[in-house]
Amino acid sequence: MENVIEMLHITKRFPGVIANDDVTLELRKGEIHALLGENGAGKSTLMSVLFGLYEPEEGQILVNGAEVKIKNPNDANKYGIGMVHQHFKLVNNFTVLQNVVLGVETTKRGLLSLEEARNKVIELSERYKFNIDPDALIANISVGMQQRVEIIKMLYRDNEILIFDEPTAVLTPQEIEELMAIMRQLIAEGKSIIFITHKLKEIKMVADRCTILRKGKHVATVDVADTSVEEMSELMVGRKVDLTFDLGKPKLGKTVLKVRNLTIRKEGHGHQTLDDINFDLREGEVLCIGGIEGNGQSELVYAITGLLRDYQGQIILNDKDITNSNIRFRNINGIAHIPEDRHKYGLVLDYTLEQNLIMQSYFEPEFQRRGLIKFAQIADYADRLIEQYDIRSGQGRNTLARSMSGGNQQKAIVAREMERRHNVLIAVQPTRGLDVGAIEYIHQQILKHRAEGFAVLLVSLELSEVLGISDRILVMYNGRLVGDLDPQNTTEQELGLYMSGAKTEKVTVHE
Ligand SMILES: Nc1ncnc2c1ncn2[C@@H]1O[C@H](COP(=O)(O)OP(=O)(O)O)[C@@H](O)[C@H]1O
Ligand SMILES: [Mg+2]
Repeated sequence: MENVIEMLHITKRFPGVIANDDVTLELRKGEIHALLGENGAGKSTLMSVLFGLYEPEEGQILVNGAEVKIKNPNDANKYGIGMVHQHFKLVNNFTVLQNVVLGVETTKRGLLSLEEARNKVIELSERYKFNIDPDALIANISVGMQQRVEIIKMLYRDNEILIFDEPTAVLTPQEIEELMAIMRQLIAEGKSIIFITHKLKEIKMVADRCTILRKGKHVATVDVADTSVEEMSELMVGRKVDLTFDLGKPKLGKTVLKVRNLTIRKEGHGHQTLDDINFDLREGEVLCIGGIEGNGQSELVYAITGLLRDYQGQIILNDKDITNSNIRFRNINGIAHIPEDRHKYGLVLDYTLEQNLIMQSYFEPEFQRRGLIKFAQIADYADRLIEQYDIRSGQGRNTLARSMSGGNQQKAIVAREMERRHNVLIAVQPTRGLDVGAIEYIHQQILKHRAEGFAVLLVSLELSEVLGISDRILVMYNGRLVGDLDPQNTTEQELGLYMSGAKTEKVTVHE
């Protein structure tokens, strides 16, 4: 079968790290080629090389058998290569149509002519059932829709080689299904796709072949049909991975968090309302709030952590009423928080890794004395966390957070929050976007936390995570708790029924 793309012996270095070390990847016409590797393995870098964002130090790129130099995205476009980036590159206050034509605007007598473009966008939207309004503002449409705009951008430019960098990480299960269907339709029309994902299930569903990178090096290229999920994860991580845990009975201690009659009436600002939420969280327990995205889980977490204050009801933390307390007070009195949006609330991207690791604890006596910062202690502490949590980056504790891969940014947040003084850990989608090796590690850490008597409030959309590491599941649907389930005696199907609102029960607290 003919290769549309050959990337041969590509080497790309960054300060302190060889992101791609003699990597070869061949893409056949009409295939979906998965690119798999741990966080920081070099996948995005390799694709950025193909898309002309980085120039490799060594190696060749062939398009349809002929060697080419791709110096910038315009060159890539010329060779029919398009890319949907891990973090979208859309202009928020432009419309869908304006974003699509950006850079390839057509003019009539010196004036911008959008009519033709509009028709083409509408036609593409209909052909792929995108259901997109060309005049909607990017800021007002969902992440799933924004991704479709990125896809339309590629199709509008008649790109034949489509790169998807972790497209499913930001999608709901329903949107993932739809994207898979779109990808199948695209290859049926003769396009070729490189698909980056951490979800082996998705690779099994749509990909023909899979190339695996580990620490910048090419490990293998396999036929997906002949390779099991276990084999692929072992190739990727370099060891066997086991995501099933034997939890055993929790050793429950005293109640550390009490939520009573928590209610949010005001809708506005895109917030879901909350209707009379009641529960207790105890020491030594992993309590999971399960549910489909957007059913009030975020608002519940915002209320408990103090990010949102416009609620009724009562929140008691370690016997203190924190209903009206600010964020710092809640943190000092026991709350640690792994937030769902790692860029917005998790990290300061222009700070170093070290600064990010002590951001919530620099004022502790361990790190300062009478206002003087103990730099050596901080450096040691940062190095210990980096080692312990296997946070990979080019320049260790001095690396800017911005230059780290998404998964390693997440590990940095997890390390900071788990290691600082607290007894209630609120972990919101702690493994989103992580590779299986990192997921295993974080699950182990959460369970170690539990064994040491910490309390964990886990918010997760991932059924296997919800069922795999929690002692008790409260299901949220439309702002209410509708199920109180024992993971040991609950199937994924049953959980799904509660999550979709098809089944409900009364959730009560026993005082
Ligand atoms: N712009 C950059 N500057 C410095 N280092 C970078 C940059 N981009 C990526 N890296 C480093 O290169 C390695 C590979 O990163 P990346 O390609 O993003 O991995 P992946 O996409 O597989 O998670 C990582 O160690 C990352 O920290
Ligand atoms: Mg990446």
